[in-house]
Amino acid sequence: MSQRVLRMGMIGGGRGAFIGAVHRVAAALDHEAALTAGCFSSDPDRSRASGRDLGVPGARVYGTWRDMLDRETRLPPGDRIDFVTIVTPNAAHYEPALAFIEAGFHIACDKPLVTTSAQAARLIAAAERSGSIALVTYNYSGYPMVKEARHRVRSGGLGPIRRVVVEYNQGWLATNLEASGQKQASWRVDPARAGAGGAIGDIGSHAEQLLSYVTGLEIESLCADLGAFVPGRALDDDAAMLLRFRPQGGVQARGLLLASQVEIGHENDLRLRVHGERGSLEWRQEEPNALTLRIGDMPEQVLRRGNGYLSPAAQQAGRIPPGHPEGFLEAFANVYRGFFRAVRACGDPAPGASTIVSGQIAPGAPWRVAPETCDFPGLLDGARGVRFIERAVASAASAEKWTAFDGA
Ligand SMILES: NC(=O)c1ccc[n+]([C@@H]2O[C@H](COP(=O)([O-])OP(=O)(O)OC[C@H]3O[C@@H](n4cnc5c(N)ncnc54)[C@H](O)[C@@H]3O)[C@@H](O)[C@H]2O)c1
Repeated sequence: MSQRVLRMGMIGGGRGAFIGAVHRVAAALDHEAALTAGCFSSDPDRSRASGRDLGVPGARVYGTWRDMLDRETRLPPGDRIDFVTIVTPNAAHYEPALAFIEAGFHIACDKPLVTTSAQAARLIAAAERSGSIALVTYNYSGYPMVKEARHRVRSGGLGPIRRVVVEYNQGWLATNLEASGQKQASWRVDPARAGAGGAIGDIGSHAEQLLSYVTGLEIESLCADLGAFVPGRALDDDAAMLLRFRPQGGVQARGLLLASQVEIGHENDLRLRVHGERGSLEWRQEEPNALTLRIGDMPEQVLRRGNGYLSPAAQQAGRIPPGHPEGFLEAFANVYRGFFRAVRACGDPAPGASTIVSGQIAPGAPWRVAPETCDFPGLLDGARGVRFIERAVASAASAEKWTAFDGA
């Protein structure tokens, strides 16, 4: 596929919604995609009003996503959308994701991918059949200094990893906000719309993906303590867990993961610390252009985005010179950038493309894309995230506590 602007569809993200607007900016940041069609709300009138706000031609604004699928499929290939972004509440991801994948569209779906592992497995199987590419927007792995952290760990700079501490601290659900009808709070505390996890699903899954992306460690078992502090909540608003990882280099690393939405005063305070035999590193989402490195008994170093001493992956993930802060939107755009490379490679397979390696869809997929050129979270990451939520909820409910990640 040429470098033409890709046609983006959207499900959700209408008036009053949160993350849809971020997706629209992120996907368009590098002029690789343009919003072309959408079903922006579960309410058809609101969808049409949102489409007008966004300048989408009326004929491409739909009242339901099924209508959108039906009509877009019947358009000539040169007109129809190339991919659809799904930014509905969690329980409304699976049906459109499956239907669009089965129809051969690529998808970008926000996290958690779906609400059960069985659904995730069906999406993977469908993508293997259709050849669709799927982005799951674990956007924190798009930050340049997260890519530097990954490079430092994966190239052995810290030695074998011993301990990982990841915290996702928020305070916005410290009171009964849902009682006010606040849109984002209302569905997040409702199991029918959010799935089985509260804070553990909403932000704990980001923490799991961040630690996995940076370290490559695989969770072997976990011991979780989930609870709700705000009376009447059916889902957790505060989660803590211990992790044990599969041994690597003769060392079994241990981890600590916190995900809380009742920590008053914390905004979007995602933090990662990785400790190895030779050194450690630390990164904070609210100070994303810096990465602190502590090696042996040397004084600590603070690496900063945009500098020539960084790894190629970290340098390529930046857009402007050092000292000009980059942040959430640029990192979000980076996961889209990787996705677009895969979509283009898929649409225009180069000779030998089928032999290139893929981390994005299951082995056995009809075509494959090199992870180093298409560095974005995909269906396997999404499926692992769903599994993580399920096992955390199972561990919290069990008397034994320590729960195998892969167990029944
Ligand atoms: N990656 C991130 O950092 C991040 C941040 C926030 C939210 N999210 C995820 O994004 C998703 C949306 O979260 P949000 O906070 O934007 O929610 P939101 O409530 O602000 O927006 C949801 C939108 O989906 C629409 N919708 C619901 N059902 C629909 C349907 N059947 N057809 C069409 N539209 C429908 C709603 O009308 C609304 O416009 C969730 O899965 C959430 O976990 C991810």
